[in-house]
Amino acid sequence: MLPFGVGVALLMGLWIARRALAAVDMIITEVREITDGRSLHRRLAEPMEKDEIGRLIETLNQMMTRLERSFAALRRFTADASHELKTPLTVLRAGVERAITTPNLPQDTLATLEETLQVIQRMTELVDALLTLARADEGIAPLHREPVDLREIVEELRETGELLAEESGIRMEVATAPEPMVVSVDATRIRQLILNLLTNAVKYTPTGGMVRMQLGAANGRITLSVADTGIGIAPGDLPHIFDRFWRADSARTRTGERPGAGLGLAICKWIAEAHGGHIDVVSRPGRGTTFTVSIPRDAASADS
Ligand SMILES: Nc1ncnc2c1ncn2[C@@H]1O[C@H](COP(=O)(O)OP(=O)(O)O)[C@@H](O)[C@H]1O
Ligand SMILES: [Mg+2]
Repeated sequence: MLPFGVGVALLMGLWIARRALAAVDMIITEVREITDGRSLHRRLAEPMEKDEIGRLIETLNQMMTRLERSFAALRRFTADASHELKTPLTVLRAGVERAITTPNLPQDTLATLEETLQVIQRMTELVDALLTLARADEGIAPLHREPVDLREIVEELRETGELLAEESGIRMEVATAPEPMVVSVDATRIRQLILNLLTNAVKYTPTGGMVRMQLGAANGRITLSVADTGIGIAPGDLPHIFDRFWRADSARTRTGERPGAGLGLAICKWIAEAHGGHIDVVSRPGRGTTFTVSIPRDAASADS
């Protein structure tokens, strides 16, 4: 049998080790929560005693302050840079638009100017998308909510969708509900979301395919889906499609045919979430893809 003193020392040692480990465990959980969400402003509670654990917490808090600062600087830089690019792009566009109307331009000059306009258009879209995301990150992209019948937005976009689809030899079908679907949303943002999904559906569907847009309501939520019979998305790619600048290899290697920067879905996700909703995708390579946006009907529960 062990002498009594050794037994007590052992138990005490065990207790101290457990206590220290429990503290480390708690720190790990909290640091995870702080760093993976949008709560980088939060800090660990600093204990009174400056023992090892206390100093560890202090160091982690200092590190998070530095991280938070550099993230903020990065967001500021993206916002400032995209903002600064807007004016020269507008000037550039105005100049080319004026030049293009000059009478008797040689054919190749005209073609060059038209190409330049297209590139300016693409750059403008890219800069707008960057600015939107940077502002959303900074929390300064407020929604301008007003009650709208979503059927009207869908009807408006039906025409745009039909035009896009027709150009690519794709059929388009729209199904909306018979009753009004009045929800308090930011109409401009919802329009942007749907248009992004429609553009993708048409862009990633070969000629002869079909795109279907559907608006419905269930369980206090509005659902809007855009389904296509296109090239689909590989299962391994699905977790990345809402990431910024992410594009499938097939989209990247054929940028000429399928222009884009990979920001559209990131913006869709932000818009859906800003409305308290979410966006989901189901896809089968070679068969097609369906994106479904779901937002709560009552705006009060949406402002989370
Ligand atoms: N309807 C779709 N069918 C197949 N792939 C799609 C579809 N929508 C999006 N994707 C894939 O997700 C990527 C990201 O989409 P998005 O953010 O809109 O960027 P972009 O359209 O500029 O490429 C696309 O490049 C493409 O690989
Ligand atoms: Mg897109």
